[in-house]
Amino acid sequence: MVSLPQILIKRPEVDSFYTFSTVELPEQYCRGLACFASRSLNEKIFSKSKVQIPRTYCLGFCYAGPSYSKGYYKRPIIDIKTKKSVLLKDIVKDRIYDIEQYISLDGLSALKKALNMEPIDIIKEVKESGLRGRGGAYFPTGLKWESAYNQREEERYLIINGDEGDAGAYIDKVLMEDNPYLVIEGALIAAYAIGAKTIYIYVRKEYPFAYETMKKAINEFKNKGLIGTNALKGRSINIILEKGKGSYVVGEETAMINAIMGLRGEPRARPPYPTELGLFNKPTVVNNVETISNIPWIIKNSGKSYYELGFNKSRGTKLISLNNLFNKPGVYEVEFGISLNEIVYNIGDGLKNNLPLKMLIIGGPLAGPILPNELDTKLGVEELRNINASLGHGNIIAFSNDTTAFDLLYEIIDFAAYESCGKCFPCRFGTQSLLSIVENAKKRGYFTKEESNSIERIARVMKSQSLCGHGVGTGDAVLSIINKLRDEVVK
Ligand SMILES: Cc1cc2nc3c(=O)[nH]c(=O)nc-3n(C[C@H](O)[C@H](O)[C@H](O)COP(=O)(O)O)c2cc1C
Ligand code: SF4
Repeated sequence: MVSLPQILIKRPEVDSFYTFSTVELPEQYCRGLACFASRSLNEKIFSKSKVQIPRTYCLGFCYAGPSYSKGYYKRPIIDIKTKKSVLLKDIVKDRIYDIEQYISLDGLSALKKALNMEPIDIIKEVKESGLRGRGGAYFPTGLKWESAYNQREEERYLIINGDEGDAGAYIDKVLMEDNPYLVIEGALIAAYAIGAKTIYIYVRKEYPFAYETMKKAINEFKNKGLIGTNALKGRSINIILEKGKGSYVVGEETAMINAIMGLRGEPRARPPYPTELGLFNKPTVVNNVETISNIPWIIKNSGKSYYELGFNKSRGTKLISLNNLFNKPGVYEVEFGISLNEIVYNIGDGLKNNLPLKMLIIGGPLAGPILPNELDTKLGVEELRNINASLGHGNIIAFSNDTTAFDLLYEIIDFAAYESCGKCFPCRFGTQSLLSIVENAKKRGYFTKEESNSIERIARVMKSQSLCGHGVGTGDAVLSIINKLRDEVVK
């Protein structure tokens, strides 16, 4: 592993990039979109988030929102709504407390099997499964691994992305808190397959319990000799747990690579892609927590069995998380192909207090809205793209009539401007310009024709010219809201 000169670590120009770099987290009130959508359930709590500095965008208590860090929250509902469970079957009733319990549930058998396979055969199995990255881009996982495997460089890295910054998402949080052993087993198999000797697991600071459960589990793996010198069939493996410092953009994989290297967490231009030139300029695979948690099942049951679940280009099962406006907020395992109607009314049991559903936002604050007349759409990556929405990480936020289209635009633009890293002009300038237009129009509650023309022009430039998905997504989300709810926002 390349060790960094001390000068690169803890420089003020690096620390100043982050919201929470040097501070232990004070009591925080969540300002994330999921708590915003549920604010009618407790206006007093949500209003505190509006005056808090620094802001907190998502504590992962979206099932209890509006939320705050010192509130007591039970585990969310965790349930299986598919004929075969890949991810949740061992944690529906309670979490897994130690590695022995995990082993008693057939844990580690996939790792054992994988270590008796050739790395290229593991990659073949993952390719056959049709698994695509659950972090939001849905790139085929097997192809990503193959690309790193094929590099000439001997030194390679694996990063597990547990930053889960999208409001409404607490899927990775549940996996890391309730079954960190599954995450680590998947990561060890991936590292063995691609030939990485070091794994970084990056957990957001706003998830202190997930950080602790991951830390404890890593130590248990070490004590069992499953991490360390010669642990992977004669190959050494090390796991380093990284704590986030407060930045939405660091969830983007190239920004995360910079952050781990002790640099400012700004995205890099691609190409080159991380699998060619990633962490410390070595081939690097970045995988999301949920993605990697599918791996043990695929190795145990075969890629073909995984491919049999799901539909069209979206294979396998998917975890979804519902915000507190639903009668039954929680994390559910579903099969791709289920309709949004079924999710809203059968799984989520409709909205609290019989509130009417105005719209859904799936996949984070920078995804387009889905209107009630689009609920027969099936859950799938391409199917949601076809209605100008996105699947993202599978986090589903319901909104009722108390949120106008203008309110929504304001929240999204305010969030995007606050979190923009400022590296590229279209996003740095674009988010601030959008914010000033929307702030001017705030008292009116709608845009004039000139304002909406300007907004659409800026959003189009951001969508086509920004360096990373933050600026692109902001442009996209703004255009999608204006297109779908034009009558409400433009007068
Ligand atoms: C602004 C931005 C934020 C992101 N945040 C996350 C995140 O919190 N967690 C995550 O897994 N992926 C996030 N991603 C996607 C990652 O860049 C990357 O695609 C993913 O970690 C790759 O893993 P996968 O192939 O398993 O999905 C983000 C992307 C962007 C543009
Ligand atoms: S799009 Fe925004 S967040 Fe991404 S690099 Fe540019 S300024 Fe930074």
